[in-house]
Amino acid sequence: MKKTIIITGGAGFIGSHVVRLFVNKYPEYQIVNLDALTYAGNLENLTDVAKSPNYTFVKADITDYETISAIFAQYKPDGVIHLAAESHVDRSITDPFAFIRTNVMGTCNLLHAAKELWKEQMEGKRFYHVSTDEVYGALENDGTFFVETTKYDPHSPYSASKASSDHFVRAYHDTYGLPVVISNCSNNYGSHHFPEKLIPLAINNIKHKRPIPIYGKGENIRDWLFVEDHARAIDVIFHSGKNGDTYNIGGNNEWTNNDLIHLLCSIMDRKLGRTDGESAKLITYVTDRAGHDLRYAIDSSKLQRELGWKPSLQFEEGLEKTVDWYLANEAWVDRITSGEYQQYYEQQYSNR
Ligand code: NAD
Ligand code: TYD
Repeated sequence: MKKTIIITGGAGFIGSHVVRLFVNKYPEYQIVNLDALTYAGNLENLTDVAKSPNYTFVKADITDYETISAIFAQYKPDGVIHLAAESHVDRSITDPFAFIRTNVMGTCNLLHAAKELWKEQMEGKRFYHVSTDEVYGALENDGTFFVETTKYDPHSPYSASKASSDHFVRAYHDTYGLPVVISNCSNNYGSHHFPEKLIPLAINNIKHKRPIPIYGKGENIRDWLFVEDHARAIDVIFHSGKNGDTYNIGGNNEWTNNDLIHLLCSIMDRKLGRTDGESAKLITYVTDRAGHDLRYAIDSSKLQRELGWKPSLQFEEGLEKTVDWYLANEAWVDRITSGEYQQYYEQQYSNR
């Protein structure tokens, strides 16, 4: 069936994988990538689909309601998959207001524009908010998991802004009958990941023999999911998720930061022809992140049971693929690590 879908944040890490999947898999859909191209947005992520007849890019800022409403009036989307966000916890500690503007106000602008466009006919429409497991707070290292009914308990300005936007999505469903769906996903890794996040940062630093900063004691635990598995989950939930429902997405793949970095170092030693143990010497323990959540772990059995999704890759295999991509795409990393990101990087780490 012909449909127009606006994907926000399509020039970013996860968004570019979602855009690529939808453009290639659904030639009958018109995919509109709406992105402000902040420091994290890079159209180079999408050169392979840029000329596809069912793909359009629109540069716009979701914090500007007039612009968003005009874009909705022009394209008349049947669906919105909303990923645009400020996404880095460390940046949220330095500048929480940017997160309130984009993640809270921006999401409300999109919800309102969708409600205004669809108010006569909500049937067949869908507003999908791509959210994070960080809204649930932190787990102890006790074998428990986040489920869809876990109480929200965000700790960082990032997770508080995502929790707030989730609440607004549900409020628009309950108050105005907006057809919505939400997913809360664990940490992603894979290609096109901005090198301020742990895995791409470490790959880049290992390559250049620079220190690998591990916060605190490195005992924090994350549940890592290959980004293309996340994109597949988004496809399934967008098409088959129940109106008003929430789905947790995770890799069932918990690693302490210490174990993860040691695994990455040994993969990199092998790929770069270094002796085993050489890269691990770059590990440098630095001041812990303020309010650093100890552990995230997702129970995704609802999504697996009800919609038949499951992760496709073992972590070691996914990590190898990711390292290969970064080593083959040095120019991508070099362009990103110049400019604004460079200034931010220096400012962040000069005092550590
Ligand atoms: P990212 O930082 O790589 O990309 C964000 C994109 O949003 C960029 O293209 C940027 O230009 C765009 N954007 C930012 N502010 C905007 C604005 N005001 N108007 C329009 N566009 C704007 O982020 P990501 O890691 O790809 O995350 C995408 C979404 O998935 C986010 O909503 C995030 O909360 C969620 N999420 C991320 C992870 C993860 O591990 N990265 C896990 C779970 C959920
Ligand atoms: P990150 O990639 O920023 O994702 P999130 O904070 O959303 O989980 O960080 C993943 C883990 O790695 C987290 O426990 C913080 C830690 N970390 C470091 O130890 N060093 C770093 O340089 C970065 C960026 C993160």
